[in-house]
Amino acid sequence: MAGTHVVVLAAGKGTRMKSSVPKVLHRAAGLSLIEHVLRRAAALSPASIVIVVGHGAQQVEQALARQPGLAFAVQEPQLGTGHALLQAEPILRGARGSVVLLSGDVPLLSPETLVRLLTVHQQSRAAATVVTSALASPDGYGRIVRENGHIAAIVEHKDASPAECGIREINGGIYAFDLEPLFDALRAIGSANAQGEYYLPDLVRIYRSRGLRVETISVDDPREILGVNSRKELADVATILNTQKSDALMAAGVTIIDPATAYIDPDVSVGADTVLHPGVYLEGRTRIGARCEIHSGVRIVDSVVDDGVVINNFCVITDSHVSSGARLGPFTHIRPQSDVGEGAHVGNFVELKKTSLGTGSKANHLAYLGDATIGERVNVGAGTITCNYDGVAKHPTVIEDGAFIGSDTQLIAPVRVGKGAYVAAGSSITDDVPADALAIARGKQVNKEGWATKRKKKL
Ligand code: UD1
Ligand code: MG
Repeated sequence: MAGTHVVVLAAGKGTRMKSSVPKVLHRAAGLSLIEHVLRRAAALSPASIVIVVGHGAQQVEQALARQPGLAFAVQEPQLGTGHALLQAEPILRGARGSVVLLSGDVPLLSPETLVRLLTVHQQSRAAATVVTSALASPDGYGRIVRENGHIAAIVEHKDASPAECGIREINGGIYAFDLEPLFDALRAIGSANAQGEYYLPDLVRIYRSRGLRVETISVDDPREILGVNSRKELADVATILNTQKSDALMAAGVTIIDPATAYIDPDVSVGADTVLHPGVYLEGRTRIGARCEIHSGVRIVDSVVDDGVVINNFCVITDSHVSSGARLGPFTHIRPQSDVGEGAHVGNFVELKKTSLGTGSKANHLAYLGDATIGERVNVGAGTITCNYDGVAKHPTVIEDGAFIGSDTQLIAPVRVGKGAYVAAGSSITDDVPADALAIARGKQVNKEGWATKRKKKL
């Protein structure tokens, strides 16, 4: 099978992360590092993707279990990047064409660079093509040693002579290889170096000595090949990803008052003329409409917000839908599977769970509405609680159109309040309320005239 194959190296320990989580599973801007890499690899429409796992192999495989078309090769023990690529051989046996080798900890490579790498590699009929970049401070990277302008070898920082340390062109750790000579040549790599590892970059010297062609492409923006080896670098990469997302949204007509503190995941969309205030988190598959105003401290996860919605400070919305013209908050909690209707108002300290609130309905203060279906133009008074849980099962509450629920009402589910009915404030409703009725379910008030004066005399 000829075509383009991708191998992602992800077996290393990531010692400097000081973490029990494998490095490639650390998250930046809403996705794990390896998910960022796989998304970028998709630009190559690869015939196959092999992930070399080792340290935390099970965790990595589990984390990617839902992504189709991935094959895993286990590298155990981890003897270096050359040894790592060799582990993909059984899976790629019989395959022809090119392999693009990516690093699971290098998440910023642009899809354009990947396509350019493959194009240059195939057009020049090279056996290997290396992505390089010139860095002001190349410390820690492998250096590109050139002879007569042509790449001759890559020397790791720890093995470099003082003169080689002065080279600013570095190995990005991203390559394209022709599959034909690859695996035999990998077996020729030795481990006589400062780290006692089988270095993949040694392939360059081996190919040159065998008269095979090695090419380079250079990326102008060195951020593309930024690798994550520490928490500091993780934060740096997250900031870059975040800036890229904010820039794209602003270019599309979104106002972001402080882009540095707007945290917006890659798959989130936001409509034009929406204003995002500082400290907003938009996560997962969230979609925000046009002309919305989202104030500080709001977190929205996997939810759809239609046009013209105002969300005041400190609301949390998860896996729900908010219709156009609705107003939420401050301090509203919308939990999964809720639906806020057009023009509805949900105010401070109101929690919705698996609840739909119809067009124009209001729950403005201090309420818990769970497993409830609430019609249009319903007024839910302050302090209303659906008692939806009996300790064993959850039960539904239905409030029909135009009903009025007085303040401090408990609706003991399962229960239904009919169309246009009134519930008196302070009621504990245990039975259905017919349409158009008034339900009062509270202790009757008794006034004892002169009682206070008598008591004071006694004392
Ligand atoms: C590597 C390159 C260096 C280059 C740099 C760019 C080598 C020897 N050096 O160095 O020239 O400038 O990347 O970022 O390749 N891995 C395995 N198995 C192993 C060892 C590593 O799968 O046995 C994986 C790691 O998980 C990581 C990738 O390979 O995803 C790179 O390994 P890392 O240890 O980060 O290499 P660098 O020292 O960064
Ligand atoms: Mg690295």
